[in-house]
Amino acid sequence: MSGSRVVALGHYQPERVLTNADLEKMVDTDDEWILQRTGIATRRIAAEKETVADMATEAGANALKASGLAPSDIGQVIVATCSAIDRSPSTAAQVAARLAIPSAVVFDLNNACAGFCTALATADHTVRAGAARHALVIGAEKMSDLVDWTDRSSCILLGDGAGAAVVSASDEARIGPAVWGSDPSRSNAVRLVNEWQPRFEQEGQSVFRWATSELPAVAVQACERAGIAVGDLAAVVTHQANLRIIEALTKRMGLPESVVVGRDVVESGNTSAASVPLALSKMAERGELPSGKPVLLFAFGGGLSWAGQVITAP
Ligand code: UT7
Repeated sequence: MSGSRVVALGHYQPERVLTNADLEKMVDTDDEWILQRTGIATRRIAAEKETVADMATEAGANALKASGLAPSDIGQVIVATCSAIDRSPSTAAQVAARLAIPSAVVFDLNNACAGFCTALATADHTVRAGAARHALVIGAEKMSDLVDWTDRSSCILLGDGAGAAVVSASDEARIGPAVWGSDPSRSNAVRLVNEWQPRFEQEGQSVFRWATSELPAVAVQACERAGIAVGDLAAVVTHQANLRIIEALTKRMGLPESVVVGRDVVESGNTSAASVPLALSKMAERGELPSGKPVLLFAFGGGLSWAGQVITAP
């Protein structure tokens, strides 16, 4: 086998919907400001006792079911998360136990919002190296645990959820080369402060400028490295942080209007490492991803980090 491919997707979102009208009752904000500055209309919030492992398991189970594989086929489970409090057993170990995956290598990966694309590249490398035939890659977050609910600049942004992909060995490389990296000079621009009771903070404007000025060229590079032009893409799913970032980034990439763009941020808010697989899986469920066509995944955030690749839609 010389390559790997995404064979199935799945996702999970908690039941509770938090609207902008709900937030108006909690902090000094309004629906108009939130919609204009972020595009976010609703976000899902996990139940008090619902954990990252719970949500990761649900999304993983859905992807595994869609793949038609048996739990024993899975040789690697990676959970990308920055909000799980589980150190040991890791979130991935808990997912494997609950899904009865008997002997996979299991680990969590924290690259903040770029975590899922980083984990997907790691799974691709693992499968291509022959160290596993099938991998379960999950992005899962309970960002509501990290929110200061009195801080209007951040509490309106974040949400909870999980998305997952099954990666399998394939004759052809259907997961393109990763573009990934970081800018340590801005390492503090998105951060969790307060070690024992972590809280999310960010330099919103400077992250916004970075994402819209420096990252379009990196996203284009992911296409070039996959051997395709931006205009060949069937869909683009970027990190879902802000609708204005998504619009500016895709415009500056020179993306034709005919290309489908993931805009799940409107419904789900910013779910960090879960945002790309969640948006992707929901788009697939709605029939918006033409099977066999190229889709750019591109994520960025705390680090500051970025990671992305062109995959073939399952
Ligand atoms: O996922 C990790 C990566 N993160 C990102 O990609 C986020 C990038 N940044 C952003 O998306 C935007 O910067 C934000 C959505 C976070 C903020 O939007 P902004 O347009 O940059 O607003 P701002 O922070 O510059 O604030 C503008 C004004 C301020 O008031 P003054 O100082 O102009 O009087 C804020 O106090 O808006 C005020 N403000 C609010 N007003 C009503 C901030 N939050 C709110 C709010 N409701 N929720």
